[in-house]
Parts: sequence; structure tokens; C-alpha cells
Amino acid sequence: MARIVKPVLGVGFIGTGDISVLHAAAVRKCPGAELRGVWNRTPEKANERAAEFGVTAYDSPASLCNDPEIDAVFVLTNLETHLEYATLALKAGKHVLVEKPVGVSVDEIEAMQTLANANDLICLPGHNYIYESGMTRTHDLVESGGLGTIVSAYVMYNIHHPEEVARRYPGVVRQILTHHSYILLYLVGAPVELCAMKATLHYQEYAEEDIAMVQMRLKSGGLAHFCASFAADDHAADPWTVMVKVIGTAGSTRYSYRDHVEIKPGQVHSQTYTAYQGSVMNEVKHFLVDCLRLGAPPLSTLADAIMAQRMIEAAEESIRTGRVMPLL
Ligand SMILES: NC(=O)c1ccc[n+]([C@@H]2O[C@H](COP(=O)([O-])OP(=O)(O)OC[C@H]3O[C@@H](n4cnc5c(N)ncnc54)[C@H](O)[C@@H]3O)[C@@H](O)[C@H]2O)c1
Repeated sequence: MARIVKPVLGVGFIGTGDISVLHAAAVRKCPGAELRGVWNRTPEKANERAAEFGVTAYDSPASLCNDPEIDAVFVLTNLETHLEYATLALKAGKHVLVEKPVGVSVDEIEAMQTLANANDLICLPGHNYIYESGMTRTHDLVESGGLGTIVSAYVMYNIHHPEEVARRYPGVVRQILTHHSYILLYLVGAPVELCAMKATLHYQEYAEEDIAMVQMRLKSGGLAHFCASFAADDHAADPWTVMVKVIGTAGSTRYSYRDHVEIKPGQVHSQTYTAYQGSVMNEVKHFLVDCLRLGAPPLSTLADAIMAQRMIEAAEESIRTGRVMPLL
């Protein structure tokens, strides 16, 4: 892929919901990049955010994608529209960062992959957790054999989400276990089989699950466990707010959102978990500087997103049937 050499790299956002605030802060911090404009389905929201970010509001996603001042498009809308907008941007010759979950199905993600490859463009999935240095260190330790034989891996998430916020998203299987799946793939590799359960505990009306758990057997022989919950915060000592552990015969590692906490509400979270914004900053810098300017291969790929989606669909099938599902 050709490197972009112009002095300032232009970025446009399709979608100006909650996550756009984190991406705008990330682009602001990124050297040699500038947010040029946004589009949102509701024009009032687009204008409000455009004023907040100090940029233009485009009148259509096509006008944003076709602006020669824009080099990279961030697709920050709801899951069901990711393919439509990623396709529009890729066809206009723009590199794309698309939020997770990338697509509704494996087919959708494969369609993005085909289009990106055919046009020699990067379409980078927003797999923000793996852009944290603690994750990279664990990945490197596993790969080098520093942890010995991997015995177990855990990805735990317990962050209360009010029903009115949760209903903007799918259930936690898609919304949160997608993060867990790409984290697991990055740290210890793919599972060969899994089983899952879900429950709904705190919503009054919203019918989707607010908690789900998955058990897995790894290709490398060890076992893994996921928990994703919007039902309650964990208030106990050393809480499993977001906790990732890898345990091997020769060592172990952990990553925790609780390592950096600011006592002020986040957009949705009861406190500010600084790593959330930090991981998005690292991801955006990697995309704009390392990949687009310096020509590095993306750390998160659509191949990862496809495998993560396979894990999600296997978990859904296990929940439906009560069976252990094979993968690969
Ligand atoms: N990486 C992360 O940690 C993380 C965190 C939160 C959200 N996300 C992802 O970011 C995306 C946006 O989430 P959010 O929290 O900003 O949600 P939000 O509800 O605040 O915003 C949703 C956005 O999608 C737009 N939208 C909804 N339906 C649409 C349609 N039919 N056509 C066009 N636009 C439509 C809305 O106008 C809005 O701009 C989702 O894919 C979500 O999964 C990722």
C-alpha cells in the first residue's frame, strides 16, 4: 500500500454518537492528522457535534467520502449500517476504521475484506483493547514462550449499563464478547470448541441479555473463560471491571481497567476508566501514523474480525441449542 505523504491527513466521521467523542479526542492528539468533518443521520446531532469538534457537518455520507480533503473515514454508526458506510468509503478510495462489531455476519466482514484488498486500502477493525501496551507485552510473552505452556486465559467485563443505554446496542454477546474474542485471539490464539450461556437480570423491558459467559478449549490445549455483564458493577476489592488474565506454567499476566481510574462519571460508566480513551488513542495513532504514513501492517485485521464473528456465532448457537460448538 502506498504511504500517504501529504503534510496533514484528513479524517471524516460517519456517525457522531458516544464513541465519536473518544475518536475525536484521539485524532486531536494524533500528529499530522486533522478531523475535517462529520456526517450523522440526524442533522441536529451532526451540527451539534460538528460545533463541539470545530469541524464541518456534511450533508450526506457520500459528500464526506468524496471530499478529496478526506483520506480516512471512521465508520462509527450502529452495527447494522457498518457494511453500507464502509463500502461507500472504500469505493471512494478512502482508508477505513470501522467500529466493532465490524459486521452482522461473517459474509458482511468478508465483503469489506474483498473490497479493501481489491482497492489496496486498509479497513481496520476498531479492536481497541489490543492497542494497550499491557496487551502487547502479554502477546509477546506468550509468543516467546516466556509464560511456558498456557494453562488458562480469562477475559472478564462487569460494567453496569442502564437499560436506556443498553437498548442502543445488541445484547452483550455481540456488543461485548466481540471484544473478548479478538483479545483472546491476539493473546493466546483461537479456541477449537466453546459453550455459552446468557441471562437477562436488570432490564425492565429490553429483551436482550445483560450477562453472558463462555467456556473454551484452546487450540494450544489450555482452557479459557469469558464473562460480559452490563447487569452490575463489581465493587469488591480488586474488581473484575475489565480484567484479562493469562496463566502459564512459567508465569502469568494481568491487565485491568482498575489500574487507572478517575473519580468522575464516564459517558456511560459510573467512573472514568482512563484505559478506555487511551486504547482508542493508541488505535487511532496506529492507524493514521503507523499504517497510513509509515506503511506498517495493521495490528487488527478483518481476518481477526471474521474469526471473532465466528466465535460470536458459535456462542449464539451454543446458547440456542445447549451444545458445545466446534470451531475451525
Ligand atoms: N470500541 C469500543 O469500545 C466501543 C464502545 C462503544 C461503542 N462502540 C461501537 O461504536 C458504534 C457506535 O456506538 P455509540 O456508542 O457511538 O452508539 P450511539 O448510540 O451513541 O451512536 C450511534 C450512531 O449510529 C447512528 N445510527 C443509528 N442508526 C442508524 C442508521 N440506521 N443509519 C445511519 N446511522 C445510524 C446514530 O445516528 C449515531 O450516530 C457501534 O458499532 C458500537 O458497537 C465501540
